[in-house]
Amino acid sequence: MAETLIIDHSLDKAARYAALYPQLEALIQPEEDLTANLANLMAALKYSMDFFWVGCYRVMGETLVLGPFQGPVACTRIPFGQGVCGSAWQQRTTLVVPDVEQFPGHIACSSEARSEIVVPVQDASGTVRMVLDVDSSRLNDFDDTDQQWLERIAQLIGNLLS
Ligand code: SME
Repeated sequence: MAETLIIDHSLDKAARYAALYPQLEALIQPEEDLTANLANLMAALKYSMDFFWVGCYRVMGETLVLGPFQGPVACTRIPFGQGVCGSAWQQRTTLVVPDVEQFPGHIACSSEARSEIVVPVQDASGTVRMVLDVDSSRLNDFDDTDQQWLERIAQLIGNLLS
């Protein structure tokens, strides 16, 4: 297992994601436990991309329940269709929110969060099983580069689901 990630923080965002992705694959490759892999993936994302908060919420019945994350403590449960996370689950699509205060029904876990991207994670049958949520303390911090790479990372996570 690669225990150290090598990321040059002077690189731009696209180059950092490109350097990080194969290291994420190597990080999870030898381990079969889902929680262990999710925990390491969230830490790798947080410290490589300098996110304010990154974590996953797992689908449990009609609710999203907080899973492995890195950052300040967060809301533990989000109902289907509510907040950015519950909406991304309901719509089965990535939501990029440039200003969380402009998103109707946004659930404010931290007053420092200003912008957000939420990517659904689907299993092999196409069922949304979790969402990957990334928050920034800056407005308008997520763009097409984030969407493209975080969707690829969500696929990597989806491949771990049985
Ligand atoms: N803001 C999210 C809630 C989760 S926290 O950001 C960690 C939402 O509205 O879904």
